[in-house]
Amino acid sequence: MITGNEDKPVIKVLPGENAKKIIEEDTKYIANTTKASPAVVKEAKGVVFEDVDGNIFFDFTSGVGVVNTGHCHPKVTEAIKKQAEKFLHFAGTDFYYDLQVELAKKLSSITPGDFDKKVYYGNSGAEAVEAALKMARWSTGRKFFIAFIGAFHGRTMGALALTASKIVHKKKFFPWMPGVIHVPYPNPYRNPFGIDGYEEPDELVNAVINYIEYAFRHFVPGDEVAAVFTEPIQGEGGYIVPPKNFFKELLKLAEEHNILLVDDEIQAGFGRTGRMWAIEHFGVVPHVITTAKAIASGLPLSACIYPAENDFKVKGAHSTTFGGNPLACAAALATIEALEEGLIENAAKQGEIMTRRLQELVEKYEIVGDARGIGLMQAIEIVKSKGSKEINPKVRDEIVDRAFKKGLLLLGCGESAIRFIPPLCINEQQLNNAMDVLEEAIKEAMK
Ligand SMILES: Cc1ncc(COP(=O)(O)O)c(C=O)c1O
Repeated sequence: MITGNEDKPVIKVLPGENAKKIIEEDTKYIANTTKASPAVVKEAKGVVFEDVDGNIFFDFTSGVGVVNTGHCHPKVTEAIKKQAEKFLHFAGTDFYYDLQVELAKKLSSITPGDFDKKVYYGNSGAEAVEAALKMARWSTGRKFFIAFIGAFHGRTMGALALTASKIVHKKKFFPWMPGVIHVPYPNPYRNPFGIDGYEEPDELVNAVINYIEYAFRHFVPGDEVAAVFTEPIQGEGGYIVPPKNFFKELLKLAEEHNILLVDDEIQAGFGRTGRMWAIEHFGVVPHVITTAKAIASGLPLSACIYPAENDFKVKGAHSTTFGGNPLACAAALATIEALEEGLIENAAKQGEIMTRRLQELVEKYEIVGDARGIGLMQAIEIVKSKGSKEINPKVRDEIVDRAFKKGLLLLGCGESAIRFIPPLCINEQQLNNAMDVLEEAIKEAMK
């Protein structure tokens, strides 16, 4: 039995026979998705999981940014058990229960902005984004949207129209929703303007803002744009942190044209960066926030939080059967409590150690071109050489694979980066030991 406090991974046999059998059947019966490593979980606690062959791993993916409170946080599992004894579903779309109201009040109070808000509940990130799209069109009467190259907002046809991180997401699916204009994101490491965004952040921000204004003059009327969608830190696109003043300038531009600024916190939010919302690091108040993944520590729930004045003014314009399921709402309230009771603080503290360890890798190894991120949302970019910055996905994948074989579960992101998103309950020893494993994997992959 694992406790979650294990200091380091312990690998006995890989690939194990039990894992092999499940993977074989999974491949036969389950739709092709994005499978990355042959990790087959039996039990998980905190940062640690045991696989079906008795190997002990560290999970530096948090179920792709979902279990920020750690696997099976006792507070969360207790809240789910208690609610499961009462009722499992009661169609909050058509009737009422207190948990939905309690959570909506809490979400309204913890999201930035001192204005009346409404909460739409969905089940997935993409659904929260769809809700934001529909709310924006419905309430403004405008048709167009601005989104950023490198963005990921989901894979349903509306959300997919905003997504622009990997071509595989879009290939063969056209037509997706019309009306989205993509503009460059101020990626300090690589941008189409050739600006070194670490040295010249203002110049990079100006270039992006000027580009949007240029679009407004030439091919999309600013007064017909309903919303601009952005991630505070691009996630699937490679954990890209924009310059500090970017969102201030973006918000200024949006407000000049009465455009809603939608902040997609689905991956970066819920304490991940050492603040409840990643946008807080940039000192702006967006009009709309979308959240999902970590909101209920693993139960399916998402929310779109928007100004009350922008609500749908008729019944039935938008809704979904399972949105705001009572188990998920109970889990979300317990999740917020656990985060506020110290996990967010721990994310900030451990994040500083992670930053130092990853920066050391940049200094030591020619193939580690960049390290970036905030709190426990960080990444390194693997390149052929620092000078060329040429992407190196083959070696990136090799590092991820070697780390897995040593018991550290990682995921790539962007074209050539590796992300590090452990649960926020990680302790210093676990973090340092994981960073040691990563360094060994890098050294081996370089040979
Ligand atoms: C920023 C962001 N938005 C939206 C989504 C879509 O969420 P889901 O996969 O739950 O539909 C994701 C998923 O990775 C995401 O990272």
